[in-house]
Amino acid sequence: MVSAPPAPKFVVENLSVQYPDGTESLRNVSLQIPPNAVTVLFGPAGGGKSTLLRTFNRLNDLVEGTRYLGKVLLDGENILSPKVDLVALRRRVGMVFAQPVPLPMTVRENMTYGLELAGESRRSKLVRSMEEGLRAAALWDEVKDRLDEPAGALSGGQQQRLCLARVLAMQPEVILMDEPTSGLDPISTAKVEDSLQTIKKKYTVVIVPHSVQQAGRLADWAGFFLQGELVEWGEGKNLFIAPKVKRTEDYVTGRFG
Ligand SMILES: Nc1ncnc2c1ncn2[C@@H]1O[C@H](COP(=O)(O)OP(=O)(O)OP(=O)(O)O)[C@@H](O)[C@H]1O
Ligand SMILES: [Mg+2]
Repeated sequence: MVSAPPAPKFVVENLSVQYPDGTESLRNVSLQIPPNAVTVLFGPAGGGKSTLLRTFNRLNDLVEGTRYLGKVLLDGENILSPKVDLVALRRRVGMVFAQPVPLPMTVRENMTYGLELAGESRRSKLVRSMEEGLRAAALWDEVKDRLDEPAGALSGGQQQRLCLARVLAMQPEVILMDEPTSGLDPISTAKVEDSLQTIKKKYTVVIVPHSVQQAGRLADWAGFFLQGELVEWGEGKNLFIAPKVKRTEDYVTGRFG
């Protein structure tokens, strides 16, 4: 007997996103994001990748007047509904940005601040989730003896992994990452990429990579975006090895973009 595939974490149906100045940054996009996998959204600048990422935790709402059309279901519930509790949504769907911005506190405090703010006061719980988060982000060995140093004293690559660890400590269900390694050297980049292999066992990961090469390395699933349109969607490395659409092929082989 073949077991049924797991239910998708996100189902996007006919999604269009319009910014208040009339820019239609996504047009009629439909796709499904599977759980416990790395989904890559890639394509040239301005294609709508960040807009889609920011739709998954409604960060686009920070631009007042942004309009959503269509549906985005998280575990079957439409997160575009006006009734959605945005604080609760963002707790379930965490975001790691391109520029790491640790809080001006120690490494330890960076790791416990969010949970404490959310009402957690048990020392043992805070210590455990700090260590788990740092281990999952492949940072523990480098900082375990520096927990009480300011986070700003870490290297750029370490700060980026700290920001990832901080999101993980909140135990979200989905991790969104927008070009998280764009400022990192190849060794730090490899560490972040490696950590994703561990992280995806427990979480749903959606990432905008900083290059086609990185997209190809990471993708369990991938979508190619061009000027607000989802041009092609595929499993594994298929999109990179044997794209079906000419525009995808041109992009992955470096003929444009
Ligand atoms: N706040 C905003 N107001 C108006 N237009 C916006 C806003 N943010 C993004 N856009 C426009 O929406 C389109 C998609 O932008 P988005 O940032 O999602 O693209 P992207 O694929 O992430 O690009 P990049 O690779 O450069 O990060 C672009 O045309 C962009 O100019
Ligand atoms: Mg972007």
